[in-house]
Amino acid sequence: MNQEQYKPNILVIHGPNLNMLGKREPEVYGNMTLDEINSQLEHLGKALGISVDTFQSNHEGAIIDKIQEAATTQKGIIINPAAFTHTSIAIRDALLSLDVPIIEIHISNIYKREPFRHKSLISDVADAQITGLGVKGYIIALKALAEMLQDR
Ligand code: DQA
Repeated sequence: MNQEQYKPNILVIHGPNLNMLGKREPEVYGNMTLDEINSQLEHLGKALGISVDTFQSNHEGAIIDKIQEAATTQKGIIINPAAFTHTSIAIRDALLSLDVPIIEIHISNIYKREPFRHKSLISDVADAQITGLGVKGYIIALKALAEMLQDR
């Protein structure tokens, strides 16, 4: 494959309840829907020469299956594990098996919220964490991931 045609795939994973964005606690998460976020990311991906896949699930096992599948198909991961951030050793372990850059993202600033949100089981497995920038954090994460892929 020649270099100019090469388009790395990256996967954006959205955890539980993020399918409710737009309706869910708009004072915390804003008004944008998940579909709107995903189409912004796909659009930006095109401009950056990256093919962006998106996936949302409310089920821990489905997210783990997707991460395992990503090991052979994806060059990078952006993940908002949502509430599983604070509870899921299994998602952490699945991410540990990948050898691609991982960016953890949260729409809200988890460190400014309830104490049970201050602990992320993912942060030391991820290459970077973005928290508290609202849905713009996804755009920033994708731009950062594009740069990381260029440097690899
Ligand atoms: C979240 C923060 C989590 O604590 C929460 O459970 C979510 C969303 C965020 O994007 O700010 O569902 O990951």
